[in-house]
Amino acid sequence: AAIEKGGYDHFMLKEIFEQPITIADSLRGRLMANEAQIILSGIDDIKDKLMAARRVIIVACGTSWHAGLVAEYVIEELCRINVEVEYASEFRYRNPIIDSDDVIFAISQSGETADTLVALERAKEQGATIFGIVNVVGSSIARISHAGCYTHAGPEIGVASTKAYTAQLAVLMMIALKVAKDKGTISEERFGNLCHELNQIPEKVQWVLDNEVDNIKAIAYKYKDAHDMLFLGRGYNFPTALEGALKLKEISYIHAEGYPAAEMKHGPIALVDDQLPVVFIASKDAYHEKIVSNIQEIKARKGMVISVVSEGDEITPNISNDVMRVPNVDEVIAPLLTVVPLQLLSYYIGVYRGLDVDKPRNLAKSVTVE
Ligand code: G6P
Repeated sequence: AAIEKGGYDHFMLKEIFEQPITIADSLRGRLMANEAQIILSGIDDIKDKLMAARRVIIVACGTSWHAGLVAEYVIEELCRINVEVEYASEFRYRNPIIDSDDVIFAISQSGETADTLVALERAKEQGATIFGIVNVVGSSIARISHAGCYTHAGPEIGVASTKAYTAQLAVLMMIALKVAKDKGTISEERFGNLCHELNQIPEKVQWVLDNEVDNIKAIAYKYKDAHDMLFLGRGYNFPTALEGALKLKEISYIHAEGYPAAEMKHGPIALVDDQLPVVFIASKDAYHEKIVSNIQEIKARKGMVISVVSEGDEITPNISNDVMRVPNVDEVIAPLLTVVPLQLLSYYIGVYRGLDVDKPRNLAKSVTVE
């Protein structure tokens, strides 16, 4: 087993560190950044459907659902197609309105999650087109899809998803960029820039792994005995807040909640005192000053603030107790990068608490029963 882990203490850590390679594997042969071109034959197979689609419905569970939420922001922004993101378990039972103009994106690492599979079977019966974004080749969800795109992250052993998530994001970003180009909803220049940014993600993730691990370990040690944690972000960083909270819960058993940063005023702010660590996903984006003022609101109530910040940001570190840095990146692509420090934070907190991070209690890698 030690050999399988490639010298790492746990599969989860190995899989976090593999991400520069697995993201590159997802992009390889598909994203031609130099020629500003994206080749996805699965998307070509349903091109007419997608061009005419009234909406895209994304169906998934768990971490894959968070990838869907990122896709909602990216696809609506770049492609101007209405996107709805559904928990498969709710979608399958609520008699949803589906017709033959709808394209369903199914996101699943295993391709075997029971709720997702049944939700897709129902939607297919009602005439929807199913597009699978799946990691496991030949899995049930891959087989019932009309078309699809594998994520190519390789086998994921750690129960908490890490490299499969970033591979899902890489594929979803390529899909959004390709559809936007085909529809003409993105300028040539923006398309070229985003292709270039996406292509640079593997080396930017590597930068985090090379430069931030010792710092994140120290932060993990400092906060390992917390009882609760709040994760806040806005816009493209909001789904990352949810994913950061989910990772922490799964691995450390610390109660954690993710929230849109501005929405905290409608509830979570009541929890803030000098015992509550609040993690802000505060990388540079169009609304950066808004997140800065949210941080100030937490500081004014004596909360402890841990921020994920862009390199070169001189304001956020001054108002935070601790910071985890990431390289600069376009806000659309940022979810691929800002999640990495959060994966590491959860991992090290779990390890410092003496827990079995690869097999957290009560959780299954793939939930194949209801
Ligand atoms: C379980 C796993 C999660 C995963 C979720 C959805 O809860 O522990 O890591 O995100 O299932 O699984 P799927 O294989 O459909 O992506």
